[in-house]
Amino acid sequence: MAGVSTVVLGIESSCDETGAGLVRDGRLLGHAVASSMAEHARYGGVVPEIAARAHVHAVAPVVTEALDRAGLGLAEVGAVAVTAGPGLSGALQVGLAAAKGYAFALGVPLYGVHHLAGHVAVDTLAHGPLPDPCVVLIVSGGHTSLLLVRDLARDRIVHLGDTRDDAAGECFDKTARILGLPYPGGPAIDRTARAGDPAAVRLPRPLSGPGEDPYGFSFSGLKTAAARLLERPEPPATADLAAGLQEAVADVLTRKAVRACLDHGVGTLVVVGGVAANSRVRELAEQRCAAAGLTLRVPPRELCTDNGAMIAAVGDLLHRAGAPAAPFDLAIDPSAPLEYAALGRPAARR
Ligand code: KG4
Ligand code: ZN
Repeated sequence: MAGVSTVVLGIESSCDETGAGLVRDGRLLGHAVASSMAEHARYGGVVPEIAARAHVHAVAPVVTEALDRAGLGLAEVGAVAVTAGPGLSGALQVGLAAAKGYAFALGVPLYGVHHLAGHVAVDTLAHGPLPDPCVVLIVSGGHTSLLLVRDLARDRIVHLGDTRDDAAGECFDKTARILGLPYPGGPAIDRTARAGDPAAVRLPRPLSGPGEDPYGFSFSGLKTAAARLLERPEPPATADLAAGLQEAVADVLTRKAVRACLDHGVGTLVVVGGVAANSRVRELAEQRCAAAGLTLRVPPRELCTDNGAMIAAVGDLLHRAGAPAAPFDLAIDPSAPLEYAALGRPAARR
């Protein structure tokens, strides 16, 4: 019954992680993730067809593992939520087909979820309901946005700023490749930067000058600047370059996020997405929020990168808000813009 809490099964398959999670009433009961990352490493990036095939193999075992960890049986699932976009189309199709199968067989409602709303909602599993309003900085492999979020289950999400070119994670991934570091580049840069001196290499701070878009981001120039430095007769050490890049990205992200909070009179900043796992981003966000008198919320590292718990978290919010279930002809939307947490809402159909 809508509006009443139930066990929500969430399924995520938008990129190279197959995730399943179980959430009830804002509480994570169990989750499991399988990754095809190792299969993509030798290509230096995610190969869509390989990712889709890996999801086919992983989805049912991952759901079973999540249920086992939660100590639940499939019959106890009262709703199914699934990432309907954005993401790789073949990968999304697999998760959606599986979710429809579970929901149809169990006779329970299906919710289509926007992947990025999942990144936001996952923080509620660790820190409780989000304050209304809050400013959210989403930093993932494909997206970088500053958002004003009210009620995630009901209200339209306001974009204060987005990236004009590469996402923060993409900047880490591409620069890591130039530096000869392994895929995925973000964690590799994080590790390598520990041995480096961030002050040894000064990289630009894009869109940070007076009069420039205060909440917009641009990261493609950083990758190019790093490449130019490497072409010098005496290039900087890899660790210094990694540290300098990480510092530039963390500096721009946190400065703009704090400014957005102060400009909008919002007291809470929430930093989410794969890049929120970055140690320098977390550290600088803590320092700057403390200095500005803001409350900072960042999900635990393991929930920052893609997983099924985050999709279940959105499904749980939607279900408790009495949101209408998605129709069974719900389709994937590989480039879905982030407007509402739910995708394929009946009201949005013609
Ligand atoms: O949210 P996510 O798992 O997938 C997308 O929705 O894109 O984010 C993946 C991105 C990748 O670009 C990866 O390099 C980056 O998050 N990432 C990190 C770290 N862990 C993951 N970037 C910097 N430092 C990390 N520790
Ligand atoms: Zn993601």
